[in-house]
Parts: sequence; structure tokens; C-alpha cells
Amino acid sequence: MNGFDPALFSGKTVVVTGAGRGIGAAVARGFLETGASVIAHAGRSLDHAEADLLPGLSDDQKSRLTLLTADLSVRGGGETLAGDILGVLDGPLDVLVNNAGTMVGRIPAAEVDDEAFDAIVDLNVRSVVALTTVLLPALKDGGKAEGGSAIVNTSSISAIVGGSPGSSLYSSSKAFVSTWTRALARELAPDHVRVNAVSPGTIMTDFHRRYSSEEKLQATAASIPMKRLGTAEDCAPAYLFLSSARLSGYLTGQVIEVNGGQFMG
Ligand SMILES: NC(=O)c1ccc[n+]([C@@H]2O[C@H](COP(=O)([O-])OP(=O)(O)OC[C@H]3O[C@@H](n4cnc5c(N)ncnc54)[C@H](OP(=O)(O)O)[C@@H]3O)[C@@H](O)[C@H]2O)c1
Repeated sequence: MNGFDPALFSGKTVVVTGAGRGIGAAVARGFLETGASVIAHAGRSLDHAEADLLPGLSDDQKSRLTLLTADLSVRGGGETLAGDILGVLDGPLDVLVNNAGTMVGRIPAAEVDDEAFDAIVDLNVRSVVALTTVLLPALKDGGKAEGGSAIVNTSSISAIVGGSPGSSLYSSSKAFVSTWTRALARELAPDHVRVNAVSPGTIMTDFHRRYSSEEKLQATAASIPMKRLGTAEDCAPAYLFLSSARLSGYLTGQVIEVNGGQFMG
């Protein structure tokens, strides 16, 4: 249980992508613990949601959860998911958390080709922009309510520091997300839609189990001022904070670094 008011998002409707596991699952759980109705994109299948997200939820929390699936690395994936969300959305949208994404693979700079470019950019950039664009009218409707609505994107520490070898396209795709966050924040402020991002450092999820060796992770942990890697639960409160007008109503266009001091801007 987090330390937020259990009614903080009572009556609010929230969309979280990539919520079947990792950071997205912790964020979805956080919203369910604070009263929201959550439309969760679980990932490409329900497998991880069944293993990671659903266990531990109360019947009341499950009754406020709708699970959807979509492959966001294919062209049109963002639009397809947005259509499915609009199919179950019953009124305005209060919060959109764009979290689904991954490195896809470590690709040395000399081996970057169109296929790698499309795979990484379609997932981390194109689908995020497409999903948000289709959901914007619902978010603007949410903006008419007291406190307005909010978009929280997931960037990465690698957007600033460039990541580690083999992550040039991924890191650059996250730099797009950070700049896009600021551009949208400026453009949507008149519609009372706040737009911010969370930028995780090295967070111990399946992401790093796939792409980083144990030795690399130990060396990274030793270099972090707080001397440990982050967890999904370390990240989730920043998303809730940025989604709540009560807690962050005068905050827009910001990228919050959650990294134990790994990078200080
Ligand atoms: N972990 C870190 O250190 C770190 C640091 C900075 C930023 N981030 C960012 O944080 C976000 C969450 O990452 P995480 O660490 O929680 O990783 P994770 O545990 O691997 O979760 C990634 C989520 O994104 C979904 N996803 C990946 N590829 C997809 C695809 N092609 N179509 C649809 N959904 C897809 C996954 O669904 P499936 O289950 O179907 O794969 C999963 O739900 C990502 O945007 C990541 O880039 C992570």
C-alpha cells in the first residue's frame, strides 16, 4: 500500500499502457489503491498481468480494472489500442500514462538498419504519439473537470546521458518522448491538460533482466549515490503525484528523474 490518500483518484478514469508487469504494473496498482477506474493495456498478451498485476488485488480493485492487449510495435498498433480504449471508456479520460516500451535489443551502432529503426521507433515513439492523438478529445473533455486532466509519459535516464552501448536508437527514442512532453505541455495548457514525464534510472524489472548482465548491474548499483538499483515501486509514486491536480496542479512540461542520484540535472 502506498502512502497516498486512498480516495485520491476516486471517480477518475485512468489509462496505463504496459501495465502487465514492471513499472506499469506498479503504477496501475497504485491507481487502483487510490480509487481510480483503470483501463490497463497489459502488453501483447494477458500472461504477465495474470502473473504480476492481478495477484494481490482485492475484489473491489479488480472490479475497477479493465485489461486490454495490443502489440504496439506494429504500424497502427497505437490506433488499434486507442479504438479499444474508446470502446470501453464511459465518459471523459482523466489520466493517460504512456508507459509501454522497451529497448527491443542491444544493437551496435554499426548494425543499425531500417528494421531495427522501425521496431524501436514504432514502439517507443510512433505508438505513443498515435495513442495520445486519438485519445486527446477524451483528455480535453477530462480537462473541463476541476483540476483538469493529465498525461504522464515514460522517458529514461538514457534520454539525457545516452544510455549504454547498443542503446543508441532506444535512448534517442526516449529523448523524443522528453521533448514531445514539453511541446505537448505548452500546446495543451489552454485545454487544462497537464503533460509531464517520469524518467526512471536503472530499475530492476524484466527490462534489465533481458538487456543487462549481472556484472553490469552490480557495477551500476555501486556507482549510484544511493548504492542500489531502483524498483518499480520506487517509480510508481512519481506517476501518481504527476497525475493528481491536488498534488501537482501547477506542474507541467517537467521530466522527473527517479534514479537514486544516478544522474542529477
Ligand atoms: N527498467 C528500467 O531501468 C527503465 C529505465 C528507463 C525507462 N524505462 C522505461 O519504462 C517503461 C517500463 O519498462 P519496465 O522496466 O517496466 O519494463 P518491462 O517490465 O519489460 O515492461 C514493459 C512493458 O511494456 C510492454 N511492451 C513492450 N513491448 C511491447 C510491444 N511491442 N507491444 C505492446 N507492449 C509492449 C510490455 O508488454 P509485454 O509483457 O507484452 O512485453 C510490458 O508491459 C518502458 O517504457 C521502458 O523503456 C525502464
